[in-house]
Amino acid sequence: MSITETETGPPTWRLLLGYVRPHRWTLLAGAVLSLLTGATGLLLPLVARELIDDLSHDRTITGALFVMSGLVITNAAMGGLGSYVLRRTAESVVLGARRELSSYLLRLRIAAVDRTEPGDLMARITSDTTLLREVTTDSLVGLGTGGLTLVATVVMMGLVDPVLLGVTLAVILAAGTVLGVIVPRINRASRQAQDAVGVMGASLERILGALRTVKASGAEHREERTLHAAAEESWRQSVRAAKWSAAAGNTAGLAMQIAFITVLAVGGARVATGAIDVGTLVAFLLYVFYLMSPIQQVVGAITQYQTGAAALARIQEALRLPAEPAAQPAPLPTDGAEPASVAFSDVRFRYADDLPYVHHGVTFDVPARGMTAFVGPSGAGKTTVFSLIERFYDPEAGVVTLDGRDLSEWDLPQLRSAIGYVEQDAPVLSGSLRENLLLGNPDADEGAVGRVLKTTRLDGLVARLPKGLETLVGHRGTKLSGGERQRVAIARALLRRPRLLLLDEATSQLDAVNEAALRDTVADVARTTTVLVVAHRLSTVTMADRIVVMDAGRVRAVGTHRELVAGDPLYAELAATQFLATAG
Ligand SMILES: Nc1ncnc2c1ncn2[C@@H]1O[C@H](COP(=O)(O)OP(=O)(O)OP(=O)(O)O)[C@@H](O)[C@H]1O
Ligand SMILES: [Mg+2]
Repeated sequence: MSITETETGPPTWRLLLGYVRPHRWTLLAGAVLSLLTGATGLLLPLVARELIDDLSHDRTITGALFVMSGLVITNAAMGGLGSYVLRRTAESVVLGARRELSSYLLRLRIAAVDRTEPGDLMARITSDTTLLREVTTDSLVGLGTGGLTLVATVVMMGLVDPVLLGVTLAVILAAGTVLGVIVPRINRASRQAQDAVGVMGASLERILGALRTVKASGAEHREERTLHAAAEESWRQSVRAAKWSAAAGNTAGLAMQIAFITVLAVGGARVATGAIDVGTLVAFLLYVFYLMSPIQQVVGAITQYQTGAAALARIQEALRLPAEPAAQPAPLPTDGAEPASVAFSDVRFRYADDLPYVHHGVTFDVPARGMTAFVGPSGAGKTTVFSLIERFYDPEAGVVTLDGRDLSEWDLPQLRSAIGYVEQDAPVLSGSLRENLLLGNPDADEGAVGRVLKTTRLDGLVARLPKGLETLVGHRGTKLSGGERQRVAIARALLRRPRLLLLDEATSQLDAVNEAALRDTVADVARTTTVLVVAHRLSTVTMADRIVVMDAGRVRAVGTHRELVAGDPLYAELAATQFLATAG
C-alpha cells in the first residue's frame, strides 16, 4: 500500500481510549451490569441451599422460591441489558470512527489522493473500523473485569500463603514472557491481513471501475488471479493470527496447569516439613483454579486488542494524510456577481518531488469577463492550469491570483464557490440526473434547471426519458452517452452561476450541431462571466477573446486567432492541420 507510515502519533492504547472516551459512562454501566449479573449468579446457590434447608425442616418454601425466581429474572434482565449496552457502545465507537474517517477523507488533498488507492481507503472506512468493535468493549471490559478478579484472587492467595504465591507468580511470569513474544506476532499478522483486505478493495475498485475495458481486453482471468491472490493473502495472515492467538490462549492454560503441579509439589513439601497444613494447601489450590478464568479473560483481551490495534494503525495512517482545513461551506455567487480575473505569474509546479516539472514558469493574465482559450499539444499542462486555479495543488514557486488576490490567501470554500469546473472526462456521479445537476447548487430552483437544460440542449433528452430528471444515470453515468455526460457536466457547472467558468475539453464529444449550439451558449455566458476553455478542436475557440498557446509547460504566445496564425508557428501549424488557417 502506498500510504507511507510515519510513526509519530500517540501510542495506540491512548488513541483507542480516545475513541472510547465519549462513551465511557455507558461502557462503565455495561461493565457494572456484567459484574452484577455474575454476582447475582453467585447468590443463586446460596438461596438453593436455603430452599433445600427449608424443605428438609418442613418449612414453607414460598419465600425461598420467590427470592429464587426474582434472582433468576433479575439475572436474565441484567445480563441482557448489560450485553446490549456493551454492544451498543461498541457500535457507537465504530460509528464515531467511521464519521471521523469519512469526513476526513472528503477533505483529503488531491495530492494525497493521487498517492493512494481509493479501494484501500474504502476498506479502511468499512472493514478496519469494524475491527474496533470488539477491541473497545470486549477487550476493555475483559481487561477490566478479568484484571480486577485477578488482583483480588492474587491478594487472597498472598493472605493464604506468600511462598506458594511466589511459586505461582514465577510460573505466570514465565508464561508472560512467552506471551510477550507471541503477542506482537498477532499484531503483525492482523495488520497484514487487513492490508490484504485493502489490496483487495483497491483491485476490486480498479476492476469494477473499468469492467467493460477488462472484458473487452479479455483480462478477466488475470484480474481474477489478482483478486484471489489478495483474498488468499488475507486468509493466510488471518490464519497466522489465529495460530498465534490459539498459542497465546494455550500458553495461558498450560501455565495454569504447570502452576497447579508446581504448587502441589512445593506445597506438598511444605506440608511435609510442617510449614503449612493440608487445609491451606487445598485452599491455595482452589485459588489457582479460580485464577484460570480471569487469566484466560485477560489473555483473550490482549490478543483481541492486537487485532484492533492493527486496524487502528491503518485508520490512523489515513488520518495522517494531508487534508484541507475543515471549513464551513461558502454561499454561491448571487445574480449579477462580478466576474473574476485570473493571473499566473511565473508559476513552477510538479505533481510530486520525484516527478519532472509540469509548469516551468507559466505566466498569463486573464481579465474579468470574456473567453480565454488554452490550446497546445497533449501534456502541455493545460489541465494542470485548471487544477492550480481550483487549488487542488499548490504551485512550488510563483503566484496564482483570483481577483488579484493570491490563492493561498483565499478561504478554500469561498474560492471554489466562485468557480464552475467541467473536468476533462466530464464525470457524472451515480444517482439521478437531478442529483447530478444540483450537485454544485442544491438550492437551484426549477426555473433555473429548466433554463440550463435548454441551453445545454438536454431538454430533449429529459423529455424523452419516462422518468425525466429522476432517471438514474448508473455508475459514473454509464447509462448516458459520452456527449450527454458532457452536457450534464456543463449544465451542472452553469447552475452554480459561477464568476469563473473552467471548461476542459467540455464539448469534445458533441456532434457538430450540439457543439455549435453550446459554443453560442458559452459565448453568451462569457458576456457576464470569465470563461476559460481548453480545446483541441480549434474551431471551438477561433472567436475567443484571447488564446493562450501552451507547449511543454510554458506559455508560447498569447493573442487572437488571427494574430496567432500569423505570429506563432506552432499555432499556425495546428490551425493548418485543422483546415482553419484562413478561418476567423
Ligand atoms: N495527477 C498527476 N500526477 C502526476 N502527473 C500528472 C498528473 N496529472 C498530470 N500529470 C502529468 O502532467 C503533465 C501535464 O498534464 P496535463 O493534464 O496538464 O496536460 P494537458 O495539457 O491537459 O494534456 P491533454 O491535452 O492531453 O489533456 C503530463 O505529462 C502528465 O503526465
Ligand atoms: Mg488535459
